[in-house]
Amino acid sequence: RQTERESLYIALNYAKTFFQDHLLKTDEGRGIGLSYFRERGFSDPTIAAFDLGYSPDSWDALLTDAQAKGYNPDVLAKAGLTVTREDSKKVFDRFRGRVMFPIHNVSGRVIAFGARILKADPKAPKYLNSPETDVYHKSQVLYGIFQAKQTIRQEDICYLTEGYTDVISLHQAGIKNVVASSGTSLTIEQIRLISRFTQNVTILYDGDAAGVKAALRGLDMVLEEGLNVSVATFPDNDDPDSYVRKVGAEAFRTYLKGNTQNFIAFKTAALLRDAGADPFKRAEVITEIVGSISRIPDPIKRQVFFQSTAQQLKVDEQTLISESNRLIRKQR
Ligand code: UTP
Ligand code: MN
Ligand code: MN
Ligand code: MN
Ligand code: MN
Repeated sequence: RQTERESLYIALNYAKTFFQDHLLKTDEGRGIGLSYFRERGFSDPTIAAFDLGYSPDSWDALLTDAQAKGYNPDVLAKAGLTVTREDSKKVFDRFRGRVMFPIHNVSGRVIAFGARILKADPKAPKYLNSPETDVYHKSQVLYGIFQAKQTIRQEDICYLTEGYTDVISLHQAGIKNVVASSGTSLTIEQIRLISRFTQNVTILYDGDAAGVKAALRGLDMVLEEGLNVSVATFPDNDDPDSYVRKVGAEAFRTYLKGNTQNFIAFKTAALLRDAGADPFKRAEVITEIVGSISRIPDPIKRQVFFQSTAQQLKVDEQTLISESNRLIRKQR
């Protein structure tokens, strides 16, 4: 088992180098891939820090090169690098004609790839990702954790974004304590990974309805783990990548300072907006928020949130506390 996993790591590392070489040393890679990254404002040191690459537009460039170098085709398949056509049983490269984002584990080994299409195509996904393998369990991974972990510890806070390019652009802007959940809703394993380095998380999700929904979803889990969670939202149609490129590093930091809310306040405001003036819906909001606060393990923090939420909801603090006690009794 151990040596089988090791052979996957070796194949994945080979593929990383293959994609890097194609990005930097071939006319196709430079003309298509490198110019794409440059257009997005990625500098050479940034491209190197994240091991970015390019997969040639060919059915079997990687497979052919790997086999010539002695890699076992079964290992390439198990690493998610090749796929087998169902009808003809022909084997070919999974990633073709895309810019490549290697995904590293916490100790820096490549375990998977995200691959972005260059031109929007309604028939193909924007990002194609590695499948689950013996070394890649999507739900346990945070993109960028290897590049971010030292700064997360130093600054004692982790910024959590949605996407690969959010991590890369913020890193380049000097905000290095940033990771991405890569389009999945946050899992308990990802939260525990962050909590090895800090207890403070600020969510920087995209400024669209989906981003707000994603921020709300699953966040009760984070509270239960005892982490301090805040949320900063971006103007509609912006994500951290587009916003930091628009305004620059300095203004981005200022924006964060002015637009970060603790999670409970964020959730209360979002639910109240949806409830409007309907008193029944507003009552449901109270129950929902009390439910979230009740998950916080630290009683002192809970107390602080009861106070601030009472003000925000314009209800008596004691009402919230007795509702919470009722919920906790019910759960037992
Ligand atoms: P977004 O659609 O916000 O993409 O998805 P993005 O990160 O801003 O990418 P650019 O700026 O258009 O290049 C957020 C994340 O969701 C995952 C990826 O991890 C992406 O970074 N995703 C998105 C996929 O896995 N597949 C997709 O087709 C789209
Ligand atoms: Mn495993
Ligand atoms: Mn989005
Ligand atoms: Mn984007
Ligand atoms: Mn985005």
